[in-house]
Amino acid sequence: MSIKTIVKMGNRQLATPSKEIEQVIPISSELKQLFEDMWDTMQAEGGIGIAAPQIGCNQRVIMFGLEHSSRYPKADYVPFTILINPMIQFLNHDIIDDWEGCLSVPGFRGLVPRFNQIQYSGYDHAGHFITREAEGFHARVVQHEYDHLDGILYPQRIKNLSNFGFEDELSDRLI
Ligand code: NI
Repeated sequence: MSIKTIVKMGNRQLATPSKEIEQVIPISSELKQLFEDMWDTMQAEGGIGIAAPQIGCNQRVIMFGLEHSSRYPKADYVPFTILINPMIQFLNHDIIDDWEGCLSVPGFRGLVPRFNQIQYSGYDHAGHFITREAEGFHARVVQHEYDHLDGILYPQRIKNLSNFGFEDELSDRLI
């Protein structure tokens, strides 16, 4: 087990754009170690997604997925996925608001607008190039994690800061 310390909002590293992995294939031992560190840390913190810069590594790698999360009890199933050098295309202009949290912003939730339907692609844990379409919560999670690679945290996406606050105080609005 290698649980890393989560870098929190305010740390300059989280606001720094991450670098592409120049050589994806074959998957290096360093990358495998990074996957393990991200997985162990995400599991330990009860997250449903994590980006490499959140454990202090400014490289373009994200990981997400859930079957059931006590932090997001209403959320849909999202296949567990590792993406190296991810790309996102928005399939239309539909935008929906929903509540988000982030391991780097502990204790808070905010209402964030995101594109509802996207196509995303990138290299998976084995170095295979994958392309998927996603909508709703699945699409939201990918956009949230992708933003980390550009140094963007979800509070920067909130349109009205009256929709940002402590998780325990917002509990009646999160249902
Ligand atoms: Ni996050």
